Amino acid sequence: MKRLVPVLERTLAEAGVTLDEIDGVAVTAGPGLIGSLLCGVEFAKGLVVATGKPLIGVHHLEGHLAAAFLEDPAPEVPFVALLVSGGHTSLIQVDELGGPYHHLGATRDDAAGEAFDKTAKLLGLGYPGGARIDALAKDGRADRYEFPVLMAGKQNLDFSFSGLKTAAARIIASGALEGQDLADFCAGFQTTVVENLLKKAFAAVRQTGIPRLVLAGGVAANSQLRARALERGRREGVQVFLPSRVNCTDNAAMIARAGYPRLMRGESSGLDLVARAHWPLFEAHPAP
Ligand code: KG4
Ligand code: ZN
Repeated sequence: MKRLVPVLERTLAEAGVTLDEIDGVAVTAGPGLIGSLLCGVEFAKGLVVATGKPLIGVHHLEGHLAAAFLEDPAPEVPFVALLVSGGHTSLIQVDELGGPYHHLGATRDDAAGEAFDKTAKLLGLGYPGGARIDALAKDGRADRYEFPVLMAGKQNLDFSFSGLKTAAARIIASGALEGQDLADFCAGFQTTVVENLLKKAFAAVRQTGIPRLVLAGGVAANSQLRARALERGRREGVQVFLPSRVNCTDNAAMIARAGYPRLMRGESSGLDLVARAHWPLFEAHPAP
């Protein structure tokens, strides 16, 4: 609550606009940690009461999907989205920004970002674990440590990272990792995650017959995931769209971008908008 007003003031100053010039207020209404969601939603309500602007409640994951639309060129619809964050790992068919969204696959246990974060914590690397492992992996050899093949033999579009987490914990427990060992470990771990994500994402592209793949969510900032996705896309005739790295991890621009088409359609949420810790993306919109 202390930070919201200064952040808003700084944002308006940096953008060179006043509140009067804003057409509407988009706010993340869920899903996520209820404390921060409540602060944001109630603050946004205060803003619309004070300014008379419309309020648009946005789904956090729709925000991540919208991040690719901040780039030029924006993706054409329909597309397949690989949404990989700290809380979600999903393959989604997007027919239109704003829905309908079709579920293609998801993780059965940990999210990809969670696997990065938990492993980084065991290594004592701090948060965000994905970015730390990404940086260390650059100097590493991926074939030095043995990591399991994820969901071996399974032809579906689901993910599982619990086996990898266990394998990583076992290697870490067998002796302190430093210097080149640490770099090699990170490279092997990251390669396992990246290749598994892309295997399923490109399988989803083949299955749907839609030759467009959008990466989204914090893990989409991963340099190896980005490079390999582009490489495979070129080889397999699939157009790959990457939001810039700052727009992959949580940010407000993507929420504004998701709110924009809703605003243009004349949607607004009303002051009874509630923050929701749980809110399936595939549930009907508009926001509650
Ligand atoms: O989308 P996000 O900012 O927040 C959620 O909605 O969860 O994603 C955060 C996740 C964290 O798990 C973090 O470790 C991961 O994104 N992440 C990365 C990288 N940067 C952030 N994972 C892999 N490589 C990165 N460079
Ligand atoms: Zn997020």
